Amino acid sequence: GAPVTADITALQEGERLVLEWRGQPIWIVKRSKAILEALPTLDSHLRDPMSENPDQQPAYVLEHDPELRSIKPEVSVLVGLCTHLGCSPEMKAEIRPEPFDPEWKGGYFCPCHKSRFDMAGRVFQGVPAPTNLVVPPHYYENDTTIVIG
Ligand code: FES
Repeated sequence: GAPVTADITALQEGERLVLEWRGQPIWIVKRSKAILEALPTLDSHLRDPMSENPDQQPAYVLEHDPELRSIKPEVSVLVGLCTHLGCSPEMKAEIRPEPFDPEWKGGYFCPCHKSRFDMAGRVFQGVPAPTNLVVPPHYYENDTTIVIG
C-alpha cells in the first residue's frame, strides 16, 4: 500500500488521531508529561519492557528511549490492533488511580479478552496478548507531518 500522511498540528495532549494504512487502523497519540513519566515505572509489570522483540517495531523508534517506543517522546504511533486476535483496543489516556488497578497509568484495554497495554503499546504480563502493539514504519516529513509507510 501507498504511504499515508498525517498532519498532527492540531493534535492535543491525550488525543488520538486514527488513520488507515494497508487496511489497518493507525493511531497517532499525543502523550502528556505525566504519562511519559509513568511509563518507566511500569517495566516490572510488562512482558517486553525494552521492546526486545524486533518484529514489533522498527529499530529507530528505540534509539531515543526504548520505554517510549517513539521518534518524538510525546508522539506515539501504533497499529491499533490487539496482538492477541486483532480486536481494536480502547484508549484510556488519563492516569487512573486505584482501586481500578494500581499499575494502571493510562493505556489501552482490549475488550475482547482483556489484554492491557501501556501508553507505549507495551503489553502487561498475565494477559492473552503475547507481544507489544506494533509500531508501523514512519518518519517525520517536517515537525508536524508524519508519513506512515
Ligand atoms: Fe485482544 Fe483477545 S483480541 S485480548
